Amino acid sequence: MKWIEVNTYEEMSEVAANIFSKQIQEKPDSILGLATGGSPVGMYKELVKRHQADRLSFKNIQTFNLDEYVGLEQTSPASYWTFMHENLFNFVDIQPENIHLPNGKTADLTAECVAYDERIKEAGGIDLQLLGIGVNGHIGFNEPGTPFDSMTNIVELTESTRTENAIYFNDPSEVPTHAITMGIQSIMKAKEIVLIAFGEKKLDAIEKLKSGHVTEEFPASQLLNHPNVTIIFGGTK
Ligand code: F6R
Repeated sequence: MKWIEVNTYEEMSEVAANIFSKQIQEKPDSILGLATGGSPVGMYKELVKRHQADRLSFKNIQTFNLDEYVGLEQTSPASYWTFMHENLFNFVDIQPENIHLPNGKTADLTAECVAYDERIKEAGGIDLQLLGIGVNGHIGFNEPGTPFDSMTNIVELTESTRTENAIYFNDPSEVPTHAITMGIQSIMKAKEIVLIAFGEKKLDAIEKLKSGHVTEEFPASQLLNHPNVTIIFGGTK
């Protein structure tokens, strides 16, 4: 595991954008795994800038997002589909058919989970996966206790995760109770993983990861068993 300590959120975003730009330049038809939330917003801004200034092209890129809420319309303001369009997809030359997020509004959610892993496999597997980390060590929506061998599945969100995500909704009661998330095993299949975390709130989680103790009670710790992970982190206590 490679550790890169940064001083600012902007620096974290730039370092992460460098890794993603390099991947896109070296393999223009890369399969990228993407995340939502506060952590990647700066990196997406940086990638948009590079698309506009340096013609970094997403034309043949395929993306698979980690997760989506259950029960929200795709175009709902709080959906991850909307988040990704407002932060990245609307501003680059990605082809709509190359954008993949789990469909949380389908009648058969179980079939959707199986189909999502299948779609990733058919595309050739994820070359580079972006992750954030929850204060409890979750990756994707895989909360503490999730089996390490989990594939894409439907999860019940913990109260702490629902409270943290309430900022994206008009009222905390509107935060869905369930989500579809790539499983820990689906994430571990990526060839390379970059995890970004900035700020005081995330430092305990980063310390736990650094301790090297692998346990299902701290989902991100499974990343210690992956051969190609970079953690870009920073923030002061
Ligand atoms: C988002 C995701 C989550 C977030 C994590 C950190 O797609 O799967 O695991 O990465 O909750 O969120 P932020 O970046 O908002 O602190």
